Amino acid sequence: MTLRDYIEREIRERGPIPFSRYMELCLYGAPAGDPPGFYSRARERFGKAGDFYTSSDVHAVFGRLLARQFDEMWRVLDSPPRIDLVELGPGRGLLAQDVLDWTAKKFPHFDHALHYTLVEGSPELARRLQERFADRIAHGTVEVLTSLDDFRGKYDNAIVFANEFFDALPVEIVSERGQVYVGAENGRFFELYRPPTPAVHEFLDRYGVRPEAGERVEACTAALPWLKTLAAVVRRGFAVFIDYGYTREEQLAGRHRDTLMTYRRHQVGTNPYEAPGEQDITAHVNFTALSAAGKAAGFDPLALVTQAQFLMGIGEENQFADAFEECQLPQERAKVALQLKHIATPVGMGEVFDVLVLGRGVTPRAAAGLSGLKFARKGF
Ligand SMILES: C[S@@+](CC[C@H](N)C(=O)[O-])C[C@H]1O[C@@H](n2cnc3c(N)ncnc32)[C@H](O)[C@@H]1O
Repeated sequence: MTLRDYIEREIRERGPIPFSRYMELCLYGAPAGDPPGFYSRARERFGKAGDFYTSSDVHAVFGRLLARQFDEMWRVLDSPPRIDLVELGPGRGLLAQDVLDWTAKKFPHFDHALHYTLVEGSPELARRLQERFADRIAHGTVEVLTSLDDFRGKYDNAIVFANEFFDALPVEIVSERGQVYVGAENGRFFELYRPPTPAVHEFLDRYGVRPEAGERVEACTAALPWLKTLAAVVRRGFAVFIDYGYTREEQLAGRHRDTLMTYRRHQVGTNPYEAPGEQDITAHVNFTALSAAGKAAGFDPLALVTQAQFLMGIGEENQFADAFEECQLPQERAKVALQLKHIATPVGMGEVFDVLVLGRGVTPRAAAGLSGLKFARKGF
């Protein structure tokens, strides 16, 4: 059965489904894995051969600078003998690989304390992670989980980390006519509107805006329980969320309405009903919601900086030596400088992505010394 048939059958049986359910099925497929969704297919989704790039596809320096920041965070936590790095939605694990390799090479004390948990919901990607990290898993320094619900304990000292994770969670779409539901007729999907659920109303009123005539906005209510889950398992530490997104203030200023996008073989689109399961569907992340939900759950919002500010802060002290380590020839340096520019400066991905940093049991004063927060705006 194709994914389209599966979704149509569900709509026949249940009636029109909320957009978030449609998006969930497109991205993650049927619960038993057949038919698969975008993230559970065997075909490569990431990088040149796939559908989209992430910063770690550009150069390992992204993971290396993160490793440097995580080492500092471990020190701010008083260098505990064990620190858990918990990555949400690691995908192929490219970033984890860069972080682990650089930590092993440059930060031996941190490396000694580090235990890395990859929480990857797609069973197919989780299987590939088991392969990639087989040696480290055998040594007990890396672990792969398909859900944080499988973890029953508490991390005494932890850094939770997510790159482009929250943008892949299912969202609701709301227009001034109501909340979007998806129906199906004669092999085609169509949209209809119903009054927004109380949860969606509350989300928009607290963290976003109500759409004006002709506008659409998204409400990612699915993101909120994640902060509660994290607060339940982390006693002390940091959370670092990197994504493209916006704040409520920016929405109030008229920006970031209708941010839903599709990606297929590096082509950007806006029609989520085309080729279900074959294209990525994403929406910008509401950082006001993540930060407020984090605060309500027991985290302290520490800073929201652009990726450029974050990486500049970490890398400037040693003039980005982490990027140029293997360069022998001037041409090699020039190539890496371009890649770095793409990731870390406002002309590339640097202003498109933001970094939200939360703390728990960390004094804001201690956290203010983190190099990644050097260029943070005051008063966040
Ligand atoms: C856009 S990809 C980002 C991959 C990776 N972080 C990177 O930067 O390349 C989002 C990832 O989140 C995973 N994911 C989505 N929902 C999840 C969930 N509930 N639990 C764990 N992983 C999930 C997806 O399977 C996918 O690997």
